Amino acid sequence: MALEPTEFYTSLVEDIEAWRRDLTPDDGATFFTRPMSEEEIVEWLSFQAYYEISAAKFIAKWLADTPERDAFVLLAQQVEDEALHYEYCMRALERRGVTSIDNWKPEPEWEEWINLWYPSGETTLERVVAHNLTGEAGACQAFYELKPRLPEDVAKTLERIIPDEQFHMKIGKLIVERYAFTDEQQAMVRERVRRTFELEQAGRVAYNRRMVRLGIGDAGDPVPSF
Ligand SMILES: [Fe+2]
Ligand SMILES: [Fe+2]
Repeated sequence: MALEPTEFYTSLVEDIEAWRRDLTPDDGATFFTRPMSEEEIVEWLSFQAYYEISAAKFIAKWLADTPERDAFVLLAQQVEDEALHYEYCMRALERRGVTSIDNWKPEPEWEEWINLWYPSGETTLERVVAHNLTGEAGACQAFYELKPRLPEDVAKTLERIIPDEQFHMKIGKLIVERYAFTDEQQAMVRERVRRTFELEQAGRVAYNRRMVRLGIGDAGDPVPSF
């Protein structure tokens, strides 16, 4: 039996919260406790800039194929937000002497998660439950954990980004509540939420591996939750 949509949405959020609680630090549950060096801040900002520009591009592509009027206007706003987030991250990088991420190479897990999985999905519901509902919740959780460890200018960047990401999470909620009614739709949504969470964890493990490779982190550090 399909759940009533609001109840269904609440059950998804509870699932994600429970999965996060069940993680051990090595799975990505907690952010590492080392202070962020400037070298790591550049790495993290490069990752974030890559994430933001990728989001702006794949959401822009969805617009060509979004029949729902409510979703169309909300996703159009989101494209602008993600483009601005990319710009804010690039400004923080520029203050550190980095003017482009063109030669920055993402980890394979990040490409699978951000450039293959998020853009996938035939319908607005399929797309938005992965990226807005699950992915943006993970991003916000990471921002809150990261913020106290960041220098003031980057913390301010996050303060500008966080309210927008919360708005994007609300788009996810609204789409689920309006468009996920049947057993079939709700089963599909659950599966996409689960898969997104899995890819996010793989992405976090890859982040830690990269930091070890770059000599920034130790192999024994808990996996960060960006
Ligand atoms: Fe964003
Ligand atoms: Fe977003």
